[in-house]
Amino acid sequence: MSEAVFQTTGLGLTYPDGTRALSDVDFHIKPGEVVSVIGRSGAGKSTLLRCLNGLLVPTDGSVKFRGKEVHSSPEHARTVRRDVGMIFQSFGLVPRVSVLNNVLIGRAGQVGLWRGLIYHWTDAEKQLALRCLTRVEILDQWHKRPRELSGGQQQRVAIARALCQQPAVLLADEPVSALDPATARVVLDHAVRICREDGIAMIANLHSVSLAKEYGDRIVAFKAGRVHFEGLPAELTDDVLREIYGEHYADF
Ligand SMILES: Nc1ncnc2c1ncn2[C@@H]1O[C@H](COP(=O)(O)OP(=O)(O)OP(=O)(O)O)[C@@H](O)[C@H]1O
Ligand SMILES: [Mg+2]
Repeated sequence: MSEAVFQTTGLGLTYPDGTRALSDVDFHIKPGEVVSVIGRSGAGKSTLLRCLNGLLVPTDGSVKFRGKEVHSSPEHARTVRRDVGMIFQSFGLVPRVSVLNNVLIGRAGQVGLWRGLIYHWTDAEKQLALRCLTRVEILDQWHKRPRELSGGQQQRVAIARALCQQPAVLLADEPVSALDPATARVVLDHAVRICREDGIAMIANLHSVSLAKEYGDRIVAFKAGRVHFEGLPAELTDDVLREIYGEHYADF
């Protein structure tokens, strides 16, 4: 088996206020794999992503990126930040700058934040950003401000920004929860297609079980901070779904 991009062993996370968000989580993702993470609100999905990207330091167990503990050194933590792209439900774009500059901000981890902040970009970097916009079919919007775009367009800009970072893995925290079902598919189609083309691994926290099954190579379901199910989409039966979401589970 090729080395996992991320591997957690016995991961536990207790927030400073004492909330136990994750317990004994063994999770991995291989290069190029697409993993859907599901579970009820509060199950620990976002906390997992924050542990993977180094934002949270585990209270128990370990989180390894490419075989090395995320917090083993400041250099490795920087490598993780550089190689891990993120997209969020709320898009997270900078409002006052153009779409193109938002995408270039994805390069900040590569070139140093000071250049990212003063927007002094080389032609090669601009070409890369324009290529990323082309791949999510939004090049014609490059000069606009984020508020001039629809939600689906903004999320495509966020995908282009993450791509411009040339990441090894894309972490998507409910990337389509704010979008209508048709637009959600357009956005996921773009993200998953590009990840597959480029061999980027992707972890997507999703509230829609049908989207999780459709787009994931593998599904990991959390319940109260623990991994309750891990397997292929076809193995995620209605019985398992009732265990995760309760008796009133109905797909949405
Ligand atoms: N900053 C924080 N401080 C204290 N507790 C937190 C914090 N963030 C999350 N929690 C708690 O940790 C648990 C897991 O939260 P998390 O946000 O990871 O869940 P989630 O699965 O992403 O939920 P949702 O589907 O609603 O986004 C919850 O009990 C939540 O209240
Ligand atoms: Mg969440």
